[in-house]
Amino acid sequence: MIVAPSVLSMDYSNMLEQTKELNASKAEWMHFDVMDGHFVPNLTFGPDILKGFKKISDLYMDVHLMVSDPVFFADVFLKAGADHITFHEESFDHLNEEDKVKAIKDLAKHVRSLGKTVGLSIKPNTDVACVKQYLHDFDLFLVMSVEPGFGGQSFMENSLDKISCISKWVKEEGLDTWIQVDGGINGETCKLVKEAGANVVVAGSYVFKQDIAKAVDSLA
Ligand code: DX5
Ligand code: ZN
Repeated sequence: MIVAPSVLSMDYSNMLEQTKELNASKAEWMHFDVMDGHFVPNLTFGPDILKGFKKISDLYMDVHLMVSDPVFFADVFLKAGADHITFHEESFDHLNEEDKVKAIKDLAKHVRSLGKTVGLSIKPNTDVACVKQYLHDFDLFLVMSVEPGFGGQSFMENSLDKISCISKWVKEEGLDTWIQVDGGINGETCKLVKEAGANVVVAGSYVFKQDIAKAVDSLA
């Protein structure tokens, strides 16, 4: 299981120390939640914070865009050093179905053309069926197990069926796509999502509210 600690839950009065603990742990990715205060009712980090983390960590920078304009912000964070960009299927809801599918495929193609990996995320209320048409366009699918916007929420069990669906479709296509789960992940829920077919977990409060290395090890 790849573990991607979410820096949203970091102690910002102790960032360097906690990043060093992350670097020394079994964590392979750093999950970087970008929120614009519009797509979700919260506001987080800009590209300069990402550049700061790049100076003190070699972890794979997994940027999760919870923004209304992922086309603009994908380039902003790629320039700042993102290794991976995940954006939300719902951020194109203002388009008609045909234009939406084209915009999503175009953005995925753009990120990949820069040699970076790309992911598509769906919120808890979004039907997993929408993912099927993108199986070959993305390196990762992110199933949100909480409503995006805040750390520390409880895991939503209805994400398990979605994970199993995507895992089945990916296997049928012979793909080795990452299936990532984000929200309310702890020692218990991690086992559930792994059984359902997830191979990457994001964990914020579970990792940063206790001994970091021990928490990461319990998920790896
Ligand atoms: C929520 C973010 C998550 C969050 C996870 O919108 O996308 O990455 O930081 O935090 P926990 O693990 O505490 O639910
Ligand atoms: Zn996230």
